[in-house]
Amino acid sequence: MSKSIERGELLHEGKAKQVFHSSSPDHVWIHYKDDATAFNGVKKASIRDKGEVNARISAYLMERMSSAGIPTHMDTVVSVRDHVCTKVDIIPVEVVVRNVCAGSICRRFGLEQGKVLAEPMVEFFYKSDELNDPPMSDVHALQFGWAVEWELAYLRHAALKVNAVLQAFWDELGVTLVDFKIEFGRDKNGHILLADEITPDGSRLWEKGSNRSLDKDVFRKDLGDLGDTYRELFKRVFGHGLTEG
Ligand SMILES: Nc1ncnc2c1ncn2[C@@H]1O[C@H](COP(=O)(O)OP(=O)(O)OP(=O)(O)O)[C@@H](O)[C@H]1O
Ligand SMILES: [Mg+2]
Repeated sequence: MSKSIERGELLHEGKAKQVFHSSSPDHVWIHYKDDATAFNGVKKASIRDKGEVNARISAYLMERMSSAGIPTHMDTVVSVRDHVCTKVDIIPVEVVVRNVCAGSICRRFGLEQGKVLAEPMVEFFYKSDELNDPPMSDVHALQFGWAVEWELAYLRHAALKVNAVLQAFWDELGVTLVDFKIEFGRDKNGHILLADEITPDGSRLWEKGSNRSLDKDVFRKDLGDLGDTYRELFKRVFGHGLTEG
């Protein structure tokens, strides 16, 4: 059906994607760019192939989520960098799931990087670039009207389900899923859909054995060439390079 949907005016230019209106009022057109940013936009670069790797991995993983019974915003893959998705009102709560301690949780609580958690942990951050996405809890969401109680319960439940599917997926490829961030939104009927992206930009992925980063930490921490890392990750996922198969 939505094969005939056309790209409309630019709705939002983000750091990693452009979101366009489309010829359908219920859909947006999402284009993945090669731009890389870190530290809330302080560090910037253009990384060849990054948009394509992210778009193709996200489309693939969203499909997996859908098969696992988690409704997502994905509708149609229109090109290697462009997706038509159900338009949602993004819930301004970034949902982070952690299996292993790394990044901000180590800084906040003085924990050792690499400490394996006994249970996966779901954390909420308020989605606000101006405020640097501060940590938040249910009381803030309820008090400030960002989400209601059942929605918060659903976000936690769905995030843990996403984690279980992703963890098994990466594990088979010899990769430890350390943590990841996802976003959800409400469609026009108020149903919650997994939205935005599931990509190595928003995940920490460590090669088993070496604990080498296969994600955007390569860029954040200058650990190597992010383009090479993403092309390598693509090959791990699909079994072939970007231009093959
Ligand atoms: N289905 C959707 N409908 C409407 N908006 C969406 C949908 N999926 C994702 N978005 C929003 O589109 C934007 C995508 O752009 P991008 O990811 O580049 O933003 P960003 O600069 O990373 O900023 P943000 O912190 O908002 O993600 C995000 O704000 C995201 O919340
Ligand atoms: Mg984003």
